Amino acid sequence: MFSSIEELSEKLEAAKYVTDPVTLKVIYLAAQMQKPVLAEGPPGSGKTELAKVVAIAADTTIERLQCYEGINEEKAIGKFDESLQRLYLNTLGGTSRAEWASLRRDLHTLEFFQEGPLLRALLCEKPCVLLIDEIDKVGEAFEAELLEILSDWQISIPKIGTVKARSRPFVVLTSNEVRRIGDPLRRRSLYLRFEHPTIERETRILEKRTADSHAELHGQLAGFAHALRGYTLEKPPSIAEMVDLAEALKILRVREISAELRDVLLPLIAKTPNDRKRLLLRDGFESLVFDTQRYSRDFDGTEHGEDEQVCAERRRF
Ligand SMILES: Nc1ncnc2c1ncn2[C@@H]1O[C@H](COP(=O)(O)OP(=O)(O)OP(=O)(O)O)[C@@H](O)[C@H]1O
Ligand SMILES: [Mg+2]
Repeated sequence: MFSSIEELSEKLEAAKYVTDPVTLKVIYLAAQMQKPVLAEGPPGSGKTELAKVVAIAADTTIERLQCYEGINEEKAIGKFDESLQRLYLNTLGGTSRAEWASLRRDLHTLEFFQEGPLLRALLCEKPCVLLIDEIDKVGEAFEAELLEILSDWQISIPKIGTVKARSRPFVVLTSNEVRRIGDPLRRRSLYLRFEHPTIERETRILEKRTADSHAELHGQLAGFAHALRGYTLEKPPSIAEMVDLAEALKILRVREISAELRDVLLPLIAKTPNDRKRLLLRDGFESLVFDTQRYSRDFDGTEHGEDEQVCAERRRF
């Protein structure tokens, strides 16, 4: 898919995805080793976007299986197209007993099968990206079915048999950790832990994703995000919400975050009644604005040469 890490880096950059050097290498390794990536972390942290930008970077298509409770094989793999089978039978007219066996075989081929995203991904001539989104929403039985696809690159379909992959997709499995993903799937994947970004990386994300907003706001917003996430909110704002906030400030023609903006910014940053109450406390928002200015002035996100995530996890520990 990618001839070098440098090529991958340039292409992700062009697709407006900001990542750190270690994550970049893991994505490259997953592509080279044909291993799925299990992307786990909080909402809005860029998990789904990763699959989309890898597809753009590799100039290929994306097949997306959106998981939900009760999803079944029909949705994921596909089902026979009964109306097409009926039409075929009708056009043939009467069939002799001798012809029946071969006709039955014909009817149970991929030609009469409406392919779901998993099968489509394996049947692509050129490797595509297969996004299995929010896998934590499905049960263990479904997870077990994925194992055949992800380790043997084939699907067993009743009445058709085993369908082997024409190409091996780059697989991204995402999870918000509603349910713990089982160890067999973990074993087969490279694990990417998504966390809130450093101020430095979030500034770059905001620059990329809201290019036409006021440049001086990007660093401020990243500092604001950092301050909010240190404020023990029930639902700290995600990268996606900070991108929305940048957009809102652009619409409001605001160039600086100040305490007076509290009431209009609350619906964008406080998404539970308790978080709203906390930020409405006397001095609550003012102290955030103070921290924002401090962080955006002097915070140097990553310790030199160290992986950003490892760094953040170590600091928390
Ligand atoms: N590393 C990044 N580089 C650029 N933009 C990013 C990055 N991470 C997140 N974003 C922005 O955040 C938005 C939301 O990201 P995404 O939908 O991938 O989140 P998610 O982790 O899949 O969330 P959820 O769990 O709610 O589905 C993206 O559309 C993009 O604008
Ligand atoms: Mg997502």
